[in-house]
Amino acid sequence: MDKFVIEGGKILNGSIPASGAKNSVLPILAASIMTRGTSVIRNVPDLQDVRTMMRILEYLGAKITFKNGTIEIDSSDINRCDAPYEFVKTMRASIALLGPLIARFGKAQFSLPGGCVIGPRPIDLHIKGLQKLGVDINIEDGYVIASVKSGLKGNYVFLGGSFGSSVLATANVMCAATVAKGTTVIEFAACEPEIVDLANFLVKMGAKITGIGSPCLTICGVKKLSPAEHKIIPDRIETGTFLLAGAITRGNVTVEKCQPLHLGAFLERLGETGVSIKSGRNFIAISGISRWKPVDVVTLAYPGFPTDLQAQMMAFLSLADGVSVITEKIFPERFIHAGELNRLGASIQLDGSRAIVRGVKKLLGARVMASDLRASAALVLAGLAAEGITEVSRIYHLFRGYHKFEEKLNYLGAKITRQKDTT
Ligand code: UD1
Repeated sequence: MDKFVIEGGKILNGSIPASGAKNSVLPILAASIMTRGTSVIRNVPDLQDVRTMMRILEYLGAKITFKNGTIEIDSSDINRCDAPYEFVKTMRASIALLGPLIARFGKAQFSLPGGCVIGPRPIDLHIKGLQKLGVDINIEDGYVIASVKSGLKGNYVFLGGSFGSSVLATANVMCAATVAKGTTVIEFAACEPEIVDLANFLVKMGAKITGIGSPCLTICGVKKLSPAEHKIIPDRIETGTFLLAGAITRGNVTVEKCQPLHLGAFLERLGETGVSIKSGRNFIAISGISRWKPVDVVTLAYPGFPTDLQAQMMAFLSLADGVSVITEKIFPERFIHAGELNRLGASIQLDGSRAIVRGVKKLLGARVMASDLRASAALVLAGLAAEGITEVSRIYHLFRGYHKFEEKLNYLGAKITRQKDTT
């Protein structure tokens, strides 16, 4: 296993480009199997999760090449419709294949994903939505066994759950509905830019979808979809992470090739701390300040503040001039990074789904352990700002979702080395 050794206190300056969005690529690759022939997906980041999705698709029978950020996927010979536990346990997002497999084969056997470190991850909304389209679903031996007796049928589907909308449940139901007989209306659909990207890809495949980007999607089923070409949108979470890396080191960082409109709530909160922000059509530039104000943050479904930036924002606010309250409304237990940030000298107290972050004057380097993808990024940000050396172990979590993470940060002036963790 590798670890990062970070020499803190370096000020980050300069420009880096955003990569393609992980959370777009995964459901789009899954959707490409709903037809035969070769789809071409561009601006694909080389991430562990993308490699895992490729492995599952190859297991199903797809032929895939991945060169220079472009994936060509030929799904003509897909001949399996099962996703075993070995795959699903390494990447929960493999659930995005459930709807496409049902659309292609009228059946699927899918291992139940189970919980994860950020909390319980139910799939009741996926199941309820697909059942509304005429899918019979049983749970047997930890597997979802899905089958369609007399074809998928369009229906009214309400997809709101206890925590609001669901990104991948919307993806699954939308995909299945594209080839259902008649019209499907999805109410309380997720509005995340990655769902918009998936919908745009489906439209290129021949799907008929209106209301894209709104919580009410209308999908008129078509007989057949065709392969398509598509360029993935920029990764808003990666963009936000690098902007915070600039801000926490009091530097001047620009992220190019990004989409500022996808980061409204995040930029609003960051601006309220006093950090200066400039943005244009496809760039965002921040200028750090020596001491910043605290802000309260509530994570919500898009267009609210993204839960996937909560940990990184917590690292930043741990050095604010006062007390911030972070309320997690999507994954109420997603605070495992708080304890590790405290090891670096932060003062964070948990109270149910709220974290009280009392800003401290400085962080001090220490050994910390990464626990999930975004928590790992938060620890690296804190390490960049801390005095002395910070070692972050279990960084394999990071490579699930960040392309060339330390290379990009080192390019901006950070001092991060990757070493074998022998402890
Ligand atoms: C996606 C993202 C993930 C992000 C999350 C929330 C991908 C690959 N992953 O995950 O990075 O953190 O959205 O923005 O796109 N829920 C239910 N029942 C369900 C499904 C979800 O109650 O059937 C709940 C979840 O527990 C959570 C909330 O709904 O509280 C939102 O989860 P959801 O949007 O489904 O997350 P994912 O799509 O798995």
